[in-house]
Amino acid sequence: MDQIVIKGGKPLNGTIPIGGAKNAALPLMAASLLSDDVLRLSNLPHLADISTMTHLLNEMGVNISMEGDAPGGHMGKVFALDASGVKETTAPYDLVRRMRASVLVLGPLVAKHGHARVSLPGGCAIGTRPVDLHLKALEALGAEIELSEGYVEAKAPKGLVGGHVLFSNVTVGGTENILMAACLAKGETTISNAAREPEVSDLAHCLVAMGAKIEGIGTDTLKVQGVERLHGADYEVIVDRIEMGSYAVAAAVTGGDVVLKGGRIDLIEAVVDVMREAGVEIEEVEDGLRVSRKNGAIKGFDVMTEPYAGFPTDMQAQMMVLASVAEGASMITETIFENRFMHVPELVRMGADINVHGRSAIVRGVQKLSGAQVMATDLRASSSLVLAGLVAEGETVINRVYHLDRGYERLEEKLAACGADIERIRE
Ligand code: EPZ
Repeated sequence: MDQIVIKGGKPLNGTIPIGGAKNAALPLMAASLLSDDVLRLSNLPHLADISTMTHLLNEMGVNISMEGDAPGGHMGKVFALDASGVKETTAPYDLVRRMRASVLVLGPLVAKHGHARVSLPGGCAIGTRPVDLHLKALEALGAEIELSEGYVEAKAPKGLVGGHVLFSNVTVGGTENILMAACLAKGETTISNAAREPEVSDLAHCLVAMGAKIEGIGTDTLKVQGVERLHGADYEVIVDRIEMGSYAVAAAVTGGDVVLKGGRIDLIEAVVDVMREAGVEIEEVEDGLRVSRKNGAIKGFDVMTEPYAGFPTDMQAQMMVLASVAEGASMITETIFENRFMHVPELVRMGADINVHGRSAIVRGVQKLSGAQVMATDLRASSSLVLAGLVAEGETVINRVYHLDRGYERLEEKLAACGADIERIRE
């Protein structure tokens, strides 16, 4: 397994291009199942999870052709997805267990083909992550749901019928699944307590481009008028706000000055507010976002993760690194996942002073972190170890970097281009 080796202490200076959002690209790819015409997605990031979704859709009979890099200098790939030949409506365990987002094919398959057999995703490092809310929502639209042998069997032989879906708690994937299904249901569907993440809105905008009738995009109440069919579209994936936020923390912890090319401040307002409060300078510039901390210490801060537009859980681990080298104490509370502090013991091994009490972590800033051998456990935890390595004295070796490759494209190249001493050891 590859390792990443970092010699810390170098301020980052330069420009980092921000790619398309993994968490938008995955549901957008699943949306291709809703139409018999070609859905063309541009600005797709080159990531392991995108390859996994490609493999899953191929297995179902979706023909995916890659049209190289997108015009206009986007780093991302362009995919033309043609689902007119889909025969298979099963998402097998070995693919779903590798990537939970595979469950996003469930809603489109039931809506378009009247049946689907999708493996239950099982848990992952950060929590049990059930899909009960996805299933209840589909039942509200008339799907018959059975669980057998670790698979969800969903049937709607006469098609789905519009209805009222109320999510007892906010679920990004659940909202995305039912939003896609509702587009082809008969009649009107109202989705209450819907997730408002930018990636959900990106999916909704793409569905509208495909001919769907959706109102309330960006709010917690979505109204969908079902249509007979959806046509193809050309759609550009939104920029990745979590990649943007991760590199913003990299610039801040190293005392650097970095332009995040393609960055959009409106997508990470909650993150920007906390970082500015901590003493980081963040300003909009012509082609993105400029993040710098040339002088002055980082001040401790309080963060509680919440559904959008609150502070994103996918930035919690990264902010813990910023807190670890701040002056004073910080409190970080994780309210979305029940086990998302796996990065804490690794950061403590690097000299951080962190105490976890239930869902909250008290972080007392230290003078310095020291490089160490550390282990990545999940995608965002692994990015926090990279950030810690960038600021730590000495050498940090990160194992199991396949976690990183799921969500960060060319991470070591982008950081090295800004002066980081970082390299990947291929094993
Ligand atoms: C999406 O996961 C993202 N993944 C996650 O990003 C992100 O952390 C999460 O949303 C929250 O923002 C993708 O978009 C591919 P949820 P998702 O359904 O949809 C519970 C990353 O690092 N829940 O909003 O799976 C669930 O257990 C990944 O890029 C149920 O109880 O998240 C969790 O505690 C990690 N029942 C909470 O809701 C359900 O049926 C939020 O989950 C569904 C969810």
